[in-house]
Amino acid sequence: MKKILKVLENQKTKIPPIWMMRQAGRYLPEYLKLKDKVPNFLDRCYNPEIAAEITLQPIKRFELDAAIFFSDILVIPDALGIKVEFIPNTGPVLSPLNAEKIKSLKTNLNIKEVLDKLYPCFKTLELVKKELNPNTALIGFCGAPWTVATYMIEGRASKTYEKTKLFFLKHPKEAQILIDILVEVSTQYLLKQIEFGAEILQIFDSWCSCLDPEMFYNFCILPTKKIVENIKQLYPNIPIIGFPRKAGFLYFDYLKHVKVNAVSLDYTIPYEIGQNIQKITPIQGSLDPVKLVFGGEILENEVKSILKNYNKAPFIFNLGHGILPNTPLEHVYNMIDIIKNYKIEN
Ligand code: CP3
Repeated sequence: MKKILKVLENQKTKIPPIWMMRQAGRYLPEYLKLKDKVPNFLDRCYNPEIAAEITLQPIKRFELDAAIFFSDILVIPDALGIKVEFIPNTGPVLSPLNAEKIKSLKTNLNIKEVLDKLYPCFKTLELVKKELNPNTALIGFCGAPWTVATYMIEGRASKTYEKTKLFFLKHPKEAQILIDILVEVSTQYLLKQIEFGAEILQIFDSWCSCLDPEMFYNFCILPTKKIVENIKQLYPNIPIIGFPRKAGFLYFDYLKHVKVNAVSLDYTIPYEIGQNIQKITPIQGSLDPVKLVFGGEILENEVKSILKNYNKAPFIFNLGHGILPNTPLEHVYNMIDIIKNYKIEN
């Protein structure tokens, strides 16, 4: 059985499986070359041959246990007919929603059309699956409803998410309609990803840490719980990894309600707390990507310390957030070397 799937079945491995969040992309010279050929980000996402090639680039270079298919969490708003642009050095920019637009989004929602628009993403998974060696697992993903909603209301990334939070407080009905649409579309999107070859799913809630416990429960936990239950009803054996990034204490609440097979830890969680989380469920994480950029002894010590603290129970080695564009490749090779040569101490 693939090593990462073993861990997701709650088994310990001598050497943990490894993959890196955002491993397909920005920091790889072979990706930048392809980017010159196809400069528009969404064109790269919707071209299955190109997207498959990008997905496989990190797998060809490094000894990784999983491939995550090349796409983005914002293909969902795009497929819903909202204008989404990826502007170099700025990031994603969307045409922001208001209460009226949310109502008409609901009236005009046609899931079949949305899935048709996303068909190239499914094709990517199919192409990648054919190329992967039998030890490497294929990960599908989506953004959690809250994180995707922030982009749809805010129109771009934000420091405080004040606009989205105020919108949710002022227009609870329309906010809930938006969340419900995202639950439904994300469910269907993930189900199709499984049909086309995804063996593991990850749900990214990158911006849930701006929520107080009440809103965290309503808009991070409940919608994610629904998606997980929907998937598990049809595919009880497909493991799901949750990533309520920087949720701190609320990781425990999340796990009380959301029956994921593993949780991804960001780099702010102290080891003792991570070990307590690991008593509930397998964990994934948690190296600070900046330490991977920095390299040297600081990187080596941190990698060893993560292994020492977390590899006594089911554990997937990963970063605490996406790999950064100026990460030297040498540092990635070093990190993987340390992990592969790790000797369990007890
Ligand atoms: O390697 C992989 O992980 C697979 C592909 C993937 C991308 N985005 C490709 C991408 C995945 C899983 C994502 C998830 C994603 N996208 C998240 C959740 C994870 C996280 O990092 O918090 C979020 C919040 C987004 C939204 C997004 N997409 C932003 C903020 C940006 C611009 C800044 C950035 O990260 O580069 C993107 C663009 C994007 N998505 C790029 C890639 C490779 C860079 C585009 C480019 O310059 O080529």
